[in-house]
Order: sequence, then structure tokens, then C-alpha cells
Amino acid sequence: MDEEEAGVYRGLTDYGDREFSRYLRRTFLHATGRSPESLERPVIGIATSASDFNPCHRAQPELVESVVRGVTAAGGLPMRFPTISLGEGFLDPTAMMFRNLMALDVEEMVRAQPMDAVVLVGGCDKTVPAQLMGAFSASRPAIQLVAGPMSTGRHHGERLGACTDCRRFWARYRGGDVDAAQIAEVERNLATTAGTCAVMGTASTMACLVEVLGMALPGSATAPAVHADRLRIAEATGAAAVEIAAAGRTPAQVVTPASVRNALRVLLAIGGSTNALIHLTAAAGRLGITIDPDELNALSATTPVLVELKPTGEHYMEDLHASGGLPAVLHELRDLLDLSAPTVTGETLGETLGAGPGWVDRSVVRTRAEPARATGGLVWLRGSLAPGGALIKRSAADPALFETTGRAVVFTSLADLAARVDDPDLDVEPSDVLVLQHAGPRGAGMPEAGYLPIPAKLARAGVRDMVRISDARMSGTAYGTIVLHVTPEAADGGPLALVRNGDRIRLSVRDSRLDLLVDDAELERRRAALPPPAAGPATGYRRLFHQHVTGADQGCDLDFCIPQR
Ligand code: FES
Repeated sequence: MDEEEAGVYRGLTDYGDREFSRYLRRTFLHATGRSPESLERPVIGIATSASDFNPCHRAQPELVESVVRGVTAAGGLPMRFPTISLGEGFLDPTAMMFRNLMALDVEEMVRAQPMDAVVLVGGCDKTVPAQLMGAFSASRPAIQLVAGPMSTGRHHGERLGACTDCRRFWARYRGGDVDAAQIAEVERNLATTAGTCAVMGTASTMACLVEVLGMALPGSATAPAVHADRLRIAEATGAAAVEIAAAGRTPAQVVTPASVRNALRVLLAIGGSTNALIHLTAAAGRLGITIDPDELNALSATTPVLVELKPTGEHYMEDLHASGGLPAVLHELRDLLDLSAPTVTGETLGETLGAGPGWVDRSVVRTRAEPARATGGLVWLRGSLAPGGALIKRSAADPALFETTGRAVVFTSLADLAARVDDPDLDVEPSDVLVLQHAGPRGAGMPEAGYLPIPAKLARAGVRDMVRISDARMSGTAYGTIVLHVTPEAADGGPLALVRNGDRIRLSVRDSRLDLLVDDAELERRRAALPPPAAGPATGYRRLFHQHVTGADQGCDLDFCIPQR
């Protein structure tokens, strides 16, 4: 081992005397009670994101202990270190605003601390993307370990899983067919174990994408958080990190345009979260790999949805694990994937797939001959309302609304939405198009507010879906005919800011179009009357975010974190 370059001597603290730096580092490491010999081993950092504010990561201490076991058994020196943790639903205004902060934290702590490789332990929606982004920029050998999904709960004989069922029951409560006592009972049975949301939401989608990208061990995405498989995967991940350190295998050697294309295929085939496209764009962008929306649509047209998990189907992540996990899906997709793509193990994707998954529950993972849907889950839209693009998850939408021309009912902000959506006097019909403005990355941190509630008076009349359009995001666990990520966002003066009540809007999933049917002269008049852009926060990270966040089409990364080509 070259002591200048590796192990505990990597990246010496600068006191102007290198020998003193080494001596001092050893001095403090002796305080840990480790043997002098163990300090000569390759150092494997373990980036932990346990937090009492992140219930999805509740089992992480046990998981990390398993990683430590694996590292030690393989001859490495495990070194745990904390980073920011992002518990979805526990951050104001939205976890999305802090994904980039966590990415900065991970990047600099991986780069600044002496480690030969890092195991990234995350799970809840924004944590895995942040860890990937940070590790990609740090350019140190890295491997991802996810927390694993929750197991399902029960309510009156029905299986429940966060968070598609959270939304389903909330919609029923708003519609008046579930009362306050029942919704309180449901609330206690939706999230009953450690782990990430039990459906194909953002966390599960990212877990699958990390596996197909080659950044996690084969078969590691789906094991439930409380299953012994999860601990075995953690131990194997620790051992793999030692091998990765020895090989010096950096993320840039693992994640290539081919593996990003494979990840897009899988995103479409699993009916994955819309958020994952933003995260994949941001992470790939850190390695200089861009995602072409036209390619996404071309892939979507030729990729069937094979996985029957909520919100697209009826099953849960624990069912996918029991049905062969992601490898069962990858086997079905073999001829659509680039099997020569590298993985963190040193094998190609094709080599890791081997002979096949054995028994597969075909009610969970469909065959190519009998897919859940013939085409992929996502469609990138373009048009006069979204010159930079917008996204719809057609696999979770109502096909009856795919070709809609309707009257706009506009909410100018999240506060306006909250104040008026349930107003009995709101002028709204089931055939209208609900529009939310100023909920994009710069305008509001891009919360998961794109799942606009059906106005109470329509919900009570039995309306369950309407076309809804915004520059916000939507939870991966949500469903409906919802157009998201409209770019440029309203806060940047995009056409979305120019929509007024009564305008006609045309959505065509068939033509991949989203158009505002208002003539140009009128739009110019409205544009001239727009107020000047808001100054944003005056200090701190929120100012940095406001000034530098990119649009959804570029992954909402900080512009200075994207390498210039
Ligand atoms: Fe953590 Fe859904 S809230 S994964």
C-alpha cells in the first residue's frame, strides 16, 4: 500500500509538515483502540444516514453493523460516518430542496476524509439520489446499499402499504365514504415496519435503478428492510467494497451512457416514479451523461410495463422480492438491454444475470408476451405550454383523459390552492384542467404538490380523476392524469405563468403534446404585465439553491455541480 496515497494516510490534513500530519492522524486513530495492523488495511467509509427524523431508516444501525462485518471479514477497515438524512415528509418546504445539500455533504465528506472506497447507505426518496450525486462527483470507488422496503400492514383484512394506500384512503375520506374514526385507524396501519415505502414509489424505483446502473449488488434492490436477506446483502456489500477499493473502480468506470439507457428502460418497465427521471438526470449529469427526452419517448414506445406494483398494479415490493426481484424483470428485458454495461462487481450486467431467476410469480412480474401494458410508463410532453418539456406517468393515469381539451382552472400558488380548492363556490367542472403555478424548483423548492386534490365538491360527487398540470413533482406513490415538471417553471417566466382561468389547454398523450390554446399577442400582453422575478431568500443554503437550481429537465441540480463539457 502506498502510504501517501491510500488508507488512513489518504488526503493528509495540511499542517505544513507531512510527517507531523501522519503522526497526528495515527495518534488520534490509536484512540479508537484499533490494532496498529488494522490501520494498514484499506479504509472503507460507510456513509450512514440514520436519523430519528427519517423513520424509513429506522433499521439502518443494524444494517450498518452488517456492512461493518462484511468489510472486516474481507480485510478492510470500516469507518462509519454520518451525513445529512432526508426523511420525506419531515422537511419544510420539501425534501427535494435539500437533496442537493445532502449531495454536497456526501461529495465533500467522501473526498475530504481518508477512504479507499465508500458504502453509501440510504433509502428514503432523496437520500439515494443525493448519495449517488455526491459520490459521482467525489470520484472515489463507491457502492450503494439501500434500506429495503417496508412490509405491508393490515386493515380490516386488507393489505396496506405506504403510500399509494395513504392517498387512496385520503381521497375516500375527502370524498366522504371513509369517516374520521376509520381514517385514524388506517393511519396507524399504513407504515408498520422500518423501510422505505412499500410500493413502486420513488425510493423503490431508485433502488431498482441503482441496481441496473450497476452501482449496487445484483438482486439487492427489493429485499424488505426487516428480512434477513437485507442483512446478508449488507454484509456482501461491505465485502464487495473492499474488492472495489483494491480495483480502484470509480463510478465513472461503472456508470456509462449504456447503463443510463438501461436504467431508463427499467424505469419504464417497472412503472417507476416520475421523480426518478429527475434524479437519474441529476446523477448522470454529474458524470457528464445527458438524457435525451426524445430517446425517453422512443424507449417508452418500445418498453412494456412488466411489474404489477402499486400505484400501477396491485402488488407491493415484498411481492416483487418473493417473485425473483429485479433480476426477474431484467431477464424479461434481456434483448432490450445493453448487457455489456459494466457493474460495480467488475462483471458486465449480462454476466451478473446468469442463467435466470428460477420461479417467478407471473402475477407480479409479467412476461413480455403478456405485459401489464404494451408501452412504457412515462411520456415526455412538449408544446406551447411546456417548451422545455413536461412529464406524464401514463401507466398511473386514466386513458380516458389522455386526449383532453379543457378549460383551465388556475391556482397561482400552493397557498392559493390550499385556500380555494375546497371552496364550494369554486367554478370547476369535471372536464376542466386544474393548473397550479409557482410550485417549481425556484418558485417553491418543487414539492410533491402536482397531485392536486380533486376539488371537494367534485370528489363528493364521485369524480376520481381530472387532468392536473403544474411545475411541481408528484410522489412516486401517487396516481392520476397528472402532468408534472412543466419547464420552464412559472417562477422563471415560463408559459405556465401566463395561464388564466378559462383558457383552453390541450393534452395529447398520443402526440406527446401540451399546448396552451391562446394566441401569441395575448400571451405577450400577459407576459409584459408579469411582476419582476422574486428575489428569493436573502441568506444561506436557500439563497444558494434559489440562485443556482436548474430546471427539472436538467435534474434540478445546482448549476455549478454539473461538469462543463
Ligand atoms: Fe421514506 Fe416513502 S417516506 S420512502
